[in-house]
Amino acid sequence: MSETVLERYEMKIESEDDIILVRRKARDAAQGCKFDAFGVSAVTTAASELARNVWVHAKRGVATIEKLQDNVRFGVRVVFKDDGPGIADIDRVLAGGYSTAKSMGLGLSGSKRLVDQFMIESTVGRGTTIAITKWNPY
Ligand SMILES: Nc1ncnc2c1ncn2[C@@H]1O[C@H](COP(=O)(O)OP(=O)(O)OP(=O)(O)O)[C@@H](O)[C@H]1O
Ligand SMILES: [Mg+2]
Repeated sequence: MSETVLERYEMKIESEDDIILVRRKARDAAQGCKFDAFGVSAVTTAASELARNVWVHAKRGVATIEKLQDNVRFGVRVVFKDDGPGIADIDRVLAGGYSTAKSMGLGLSGSKRLVDQFMIESTVGRGTTIAITKWNPY
């Protein structure tokens, strides 16, 4: 099924305030795709956790927010890209409960559960790219 990008926004994450801006833009995109309240909240929560991870763990990065359409539905994709320290053990962080920042370690595993597609690519010393996509079934 081919997908079309209807809108795309690229946003820098360089300060704590930028997390709020990414969160707001992700929410707008989800609302624009006519997600119900649960769907909007899922996209918003996942995007803001991943934006926070860029800020906390990599200090800076870029978020790209896309409104998508395929043959039967709308969707939102958010891609986070940073040149930070990378993640050594992806399976471990996705299992949840593991944090190098003395936090809960629930951001990544929680985000993954909220979306339909979750892609993570990371190289230690080079950086991390995470892409999430959620489709609106209605
Ligand atoms: N963009 C990133 N760059 C480098 N490491 C990351 C990145 N995102 C996550 N990590 C690593 O994965 C771990 C788990 O991330 P996760 O978001 O689940 O937990 P956390 O950020 O430590 O705590 P919180 O529960 O507050 O989100 C982090 O502690 C960190 O080691
Ligand atoms: Mg986190």
